[in-house]
Amino acid sequence: MSETIQTLLQESRTFPPSPEFIAQANANDPKIYQDAAADPEAFWADWARKLDWFEPFDTICEYTPPYAKWFLGGKLNASYNCVDRHALGDRRNKPAIIWEGEPGDSRTITYGELKDEVSRLANALKALGVGKGDRVSVYMPMVPELAMTLLACARIGAAHSVVFGGFSADSLEERTNDAQCKVIVTADGGWRRGGIVPLKSIVDEALDLGCPSVTNVLVLKRAGKPGDLTNGVKTPAYNEGKWVEGRDIWWHDLVASQSTDCPCEPMDSEDLLFVLYTSGSTGKPKGITHTTGGYLTGTMATSKLVFDLKEDDIHFCTADIGWVTGHSYIVYGPMANGATVLMYEGAPDTPDKDRFWRIIEKHKATILYTAPTAIRAFMKWGTEYPDRCDLSSLRLLGSVGEPINPEAWIWYQEVIGKGKCPVVDTWWQTETGAIMVTPLPGITATKPGSATQPFPGISVSVFTEQGGKTEVTGPDVTGTPTGGFLVLTKPWPSMTRGIFNDPTRFQKTYWSRFENAYFAGDGIKLDEEGYLWLLGRVDDIMLVAGHNISTMEVESALVDHHAVAEAAVIGKTHDIKGQAIAAFVILRSGHENHEGLVDELKKHVAHKIGALARPDDIFISAELPKTRSGKIMRRLLRDVAEGRALGDTTTLADPTVVHLLRDKYEASEG
Ligand code: WT7
Repeated sequence: MSETIQTLLQESRTFPPSPEFIAQANANDPKIYQDAAADPEAFWADWARKLDWFEPFDTICEYTPPYAKWFLGGKLNASYNCVDRHALGDRRNKPAIIWEGEPGDSRTITYGELKDEVSRLANALKALGVGKGDRVSVYMPMVPELAMTLLACARIGAAHSVVFGGFSADSLEERTNDAQCKVIVTADGGWRRGGIVPLKSIVDEALDLGCPSVTNVLVLKRAGKPGDLTNGVKTPAYNEGKWVEGRDIWWHDLVASQSTDCPCEPMDSEDLLFVLYTSGSTGKPKGITHTTGGYLTGTMATSKLVFDLKEDDIHFCTADIGWVTGHSYIVYGPMANGATVLMYEGAPDTPDKDRFWRIIEKHKATILYTAPTAIRAFMKWGTEYPDRCDLSSLRLLGSVGEPINPEAWIWYQEVIGKGKCPVVDTWWQTETGAIMVTPLPGITATKPGSATQPFPGISVSVFTEQGGKTEVTGPDVTGTPTGGFLVLTKPWPSMTRGIFNDPTRFQKTYWSRFENAYFAGDGIKLDEEGYLWLLGRVDDIMLVAGHNISTMEVESALVDHHAVAEAAVIGKTHDIKGQAIAAFVILRSGHENHEGLVDELKKHVAHKIGALARPDDIFISAELPKTRSGKIMRRLLRDVAEGRALGDTTTLADPTVVHLLRDKYEASEG
């Protein structure tokens, strides 16, 4: 962490927006910050009124921490706002989704077609008994039907709970049960790096573990049978799962024959739109809830102003819809604006490391929104890949997921943006629903590595350990630099309405450290010019390739293995992933560290949680450094794993343990 702060604070280059960009920008008058700060409720209500309401709201905001309600009395539907209202007149023929599959197959779906498809699917869900107030589990590859599923659920007033396709059967089972989902929507499989992710067979496994609330599984045919051809590419052998008659239904059997007429359910502004699970420090994932009016307002406004979204833009967000970034900036935000989104199914290095650049060239993407971990991988692969593609359609670049190091920022700006695209580094969370700290590309002079300022209408506070509090609203902060915890003291429309069915945990996790204030879990620094620098998590959440994984979650998976007595997991600094998972493991008596055990343990974790949680390093040890009260000192384990001098060891029960551990660790690394 201290290293990050140092490199960040040495960064002094600034990049003001170009006159050409300013001239055409959706937001180019700095007054927007003052106006929004003077009356945030009025600012947000103006945005909310850009949505179509079946019944207008009468109250803008009611806030009793930790809960806010926005646009009370209003009735609307997210599917109506993201689909129907753009499927009118000539705009029906505007592409809503341009999609490319990993094998190179491609589809364009207009708003008119999207309305028909979403309506058919919504009627199919109804036929399966799904209705207003129900939940639907979604476990799909990145195909247009995934976006359609979200919109179809919203259409009939059912909440979706999307589980990223990289998660395991255990994870899917846990989330499906927690949300009490009626139906699981999945596919036979999805393409990833030339292989097939066997989604349906993983759903089977989850259901075998026990999901009593699930009555049906709706299965899209994507991978097909081994040997089938997609754009000339043969489907390899994969586990197709088992077909359970009565429970499992093919999408093409049920959806195709449905009517394209499905009226949008009028939803209360505060009705649940979705649940999305995110890692929590206890190991059990938290079902983060979002409601309709506020979430749509926040994602629509930020899409329009942060990405400077215009009618003819082609917006390429590379995140999977399994993460909040895909919810907010592939589906709801861009589509509430009637934009064209570009969606890609597979890996960035398949068939070659230029895949993203080929996609941008082919579909003439104008906006690229990706993650620092991806940018660092591109840097490592070298400039030959982007350089051999025509990226001249790009006009704006975005970054999200973790702090972006200045070198990666500059590389992104120079090599991908050719020095002419503004770079927006956007800080936010699953819990915040929409972007919170970000430049406005037509106003803000950016500094590489800084997410700059709060979005208009948002105020961010820096709370110090000593009780200092500095509130930042917009760019005109005057005062002394400070650093501490990122805290939000004022409500905003897209804030989470809590953890699904767990108000106590919501209060405890986010609202107990500081009174009546939301603690985001991130460290933050404010510089002398009023710029905010995000410094990473201050809790037990790791950011591995931009994905939240809790140390506890991985520890639980490790001790679940019969050979493991105890495990301590840390996030270790990694060049590309930001953090990599390192685990220290004590074996149960009677178990020896044999050849292949470490691999077996890594596999076990991947099987329990998903491949994204597979530890890079597992070190088997006889003892772990503990305090006298028995608490494992992860700080010292981080020192060991990162090869640093050991920090303060005086609170340890037995300081020799950690010295011995370090010597052995270093010896094992050769
Ligand atoms: C955590 C939230 C928001 C969508 C993706 C992640 C980190 C996110 C940035 C950024 C520094 C960032 C924070 C945050 N984070 N964006 N631009 N700069 N850190 O959503 O999985 O809910 O994770 O990601 O630590 O708390 P998430």
